[in-house]
Amino acid sequence: MGELYVMDHPLIKHKLTYIRDKRTGSKEFRELVKEVAMLMGYEVTRNLELRDKEIETPVSKTTSQVIAGKKLGIVPILRAGLGMVEGMLSLLPAAKVGHVGLYRDPETLEPIEYYCKLPSDVEEREFIVTDPMLATGGSANAAITSLKNRGATNIRLMCLIAAPEGVKAVQEAHPDVDIYLAGLDEKLNDHAYIVPGLGDAGDRLFGTK
Ligand code: URA
Repeated sequence: MGELYVMDHPLIKHKLTYIRDKRTGSKEFRELVKEVAMLMGYEVTRNLELRDKEIETPVSKTTSQVIAGKKLGIVPILRAGLGMVEGMLSLLPAAKVGHVGLYRDPETLEPIEYYCKLPSDVEEREFIVTDPMLATGGSANAAITSLKNRGATNIRLMCLIAAPEGVKAVQEAHPDVDIYLAGLDEKLNDHAYIVPGLGDAGDRLFGTK
């Protein structure tokens, strides 16, 4: 079973409160999502390998450490996942960005992939899939399956808010995938919205409705 990490940091909790607040407009919402993604990046990247590097400080020679150069890929699920990319890229400027687009079949309600563009060296990369809302888990599971079908073997899922139903669905379908959340909410309502949640993440990010 993949690990579930729910962030426990005052800055993340504080910013998440304003993200949830319906009075927060798109500009501030976008900024806050970016900031929370960046703060979460600290935990999501905690297990990155380091290597020694010889350097000279103004005072002496020393051996210090840098990231071992493991290749990373950030994959937002379109469109709301885009809101988390900039924050992650500010921490990981060398990461490549793939995209997965999914829509829900109106009859079967199954997620159908309409777009997938990943870096060419999929097998060598560690991927971080981003989607602010992990509701039923349908989109996250389909996106992770798309990555695996193209050769990805190391995948993490990073969301702002999840419902327990979504966490369970991903853990069952992809027990190798660790999940990182800023908040774990109570439940889904009858329209598959997370309660209390934040509403429609894509609409709030991009000012649509
Ligand atoms: N997607 C959203 O944007 N919000 C939810 O509450 C659930 C899915």
